[in-house]
Amino acid sequence: MRAGKLSEQLDVQIRWLIRRDMPEVLDIERSSFEHSWTEEDFLSSLRQRHCIGMVVELNEEIIGFMIYELHKISLRVLNFAVAEQYRRNGIGVQMIQKLVDKLSQQRRSEIELTVRETNLSAQLFFQSQGFKAVQVLRSHYHDTDEDAYLMRYQLMEAPDWLPFEGVRNRLTAYKDAA
Ligand SMILES: CC(C)(COP(=O)(O)OP(=O)(O)OC[C@H]1O[C@@H](n2cnc3c(N)ncnc32)[C@H](O)[C@@H]1OP(=O)(O)O)[C@@H](O)C(=O)NCCC(=O)NCCS
Repeated sequence: MRAGKLSEQLDVQIRWLIRRDMPEVLDIERSSFEHSWTEEDFLSSLRQRHCIGMVVELNEEIIGFMIYELHKISLRVLNFAVAEQYRRNGIGVQMIQKLVDKLSQQRRSEIELTVRETNLSAQLFFQSQGFKAVQVLRSHYHDTDEDAYLMRYQLMEAPDWLPFEGVRNRLTAYKDAA
């Protein structure tokens, strides 16, 4: 176990974001991003029918969140952060794993997101989870002139000979991340 880790995998609960989570989510948002979303940014996204918020809870404290959209063949992550004091404890991995599980249940095959070119730690995180940078989006942001990388996770076709869909999907996700 790496020094500083709270445990190999914290026993957290991942559930849908509800309105009264917003103050804690906003605290994490503001301390995570220089150009942070406002409460109205969250609410207007979440009002869309195809947009979903989820939070990670540890002992009734919100320690991370993710906002994502449902598209025909993909899930698109719009916003995602773990509270600073809980980072590098596998929380981000658990949230991405939740999305990967949803892919297979919902017959979607990709997760996409954009990450700022200066956000190296997020790029390394997503790379460690099997995402690949597939496109540079020039001057993507309104607030700076930096570029974005479009990163994509692709769930591979499962071999037919594997007996159960869940097993097949986990195997192909694993292969993709390798
Ligand atoms: C990106 C983020 C969500 C990752 O969450 P996390 O819970 O800290 O990630 P994990 O502990 O699950 O990390 C899993 C692996 O990713 C890689 N990784 C994560 N953070 C990293 C960093 N800062 N530098 C290098 N690698 C990193 C490591 O391989 C890590 O495994 P290890 O700790 O055993 O070495 C978190 O750093 C964060 O909230 N950042 C600020 C907000 C942000 O940038 N969000 C993404 C916007 S696109």
